[in-house]
Amino acid sequence: MDDEPANLRLLQRVFADDYQVLAAGSGAEAIEILKKHDVSLIVTDQRMPSMTGVQLLEQSLAIRPEAIKILITGYTDVQALIDAINSGRVYKYVPKPWDADELRLTVRRALETYELKARNARLLEELGQALSELEDLSVGTIRALADALDAKCDYTSGHSLRVSRYAVSIGRAIGLERDELKDLELAGILHDIGKIGVPESILWKPARLTPEEQAVMAQHPVRSAQIIGDLPILSRARRWVLHHHEYLDGSGYPDHLQGEAIPYGARIILVADAYDAMTSDRPYRKAIGHARAAEELRRHAGKQFDARMVEALISVVGEKGEKLEGGIPESFLGLTLSSIDPGQPGRQFQEEHERQARAGSAG
Ligand SMILES: [Fe+2]
Repeated sequence: MDDEPANLRLLQRVFADDYQVLAAGSGAEAIEILKKHDVSLIVTDQRMPSMTGVQLLEQSLAIRPEAIKILITGYTDVQALIDAINSGRVYKYVPKPWDADELRLTVRRALETYELKARNARLLEELGQALSELEDLSVGTIRALADALDAKCDYTSGHSLRVSRYAVSIGRAIGLERDELKDLELAGILHDIGKIGVPESILWKPARLTPEEQAVMAQHPVRSAQIIGDLPILSRARRWVLHHHEYLDGSGYPDHLQGEAIPYGARIILVADAYDAMTSDRPYRKAIGHARAAEELRRHAGKQFDARMVEALISVVGEKGEKLEGGIPESFLGLTLSSIDPGQPGRQFQEEHERQARAGSAG
């Protein structure tokens, strides 16, 4: 932009060979051009009757914030110039009288910067998109895994979902942030996914496990963590899953961590898991009911369980489980649980149980 027609023509001639040039004889005209065209770079004279170059560049910010701004000015406008440069609105100023080659070079360098910035912005956007797709994909994978686990461990039907709901409830009650709650939900659903690798004969055994069988069972948190893999967005949830059987006194597994060394998310999942296990029928015993489950959690608080997490859960579900229905928060992942009612042994488990009982009485 330049209000002197001769100067404008001169400028056009300097750039016409290499660029698409749009010329404006006034600020108003320049604004119109900026609105209509995706302009990468603006060269403007500072001294003009209706609108100064700095004013034009300021206004251009709202229309073409990315466009590179070059100001041509005489030495008399030093203060306006310094202000404009300091506020970051001007990429470079060119003193009058300008030299054509120098101006070409300045513009070329400026456009290189512009391209680079635009490319970076594009890359960042692509990266963000890839990450969110990855997250979507993970949620899909997680549902599939949870379903696979339910199919295998029929007796735990709905267990993972309930544990995740309880875990989120505890997290909310102790004031965790939203991203922590999301990870709790994820970790709750996936905590036992490693049981997919445990033989049915152990999973469904209606009696106490032998030490060897216990060792196989004790590997399931490690397997769960392996299945979750090493996606960075899942790293915290993975750690919680890995340690969901660690006890406060160090008698848990797999790493015999103690007290505060056990990640808080893992301490939450342990309490949620134990509560659901006690309030659901299992191969080797019947459910003990909510009031007694709360009692048991308290009895082992400080030894196995973190007392703070125990009280948080009881505050949400109620001393007798009376607040269950209203107290459980919505799912972040959109996973639905038809009812928070404790799980009953599934048909598949019943059949296996009967088969094993028959085999036992025959032998
Ligand atoms: Fe587990």
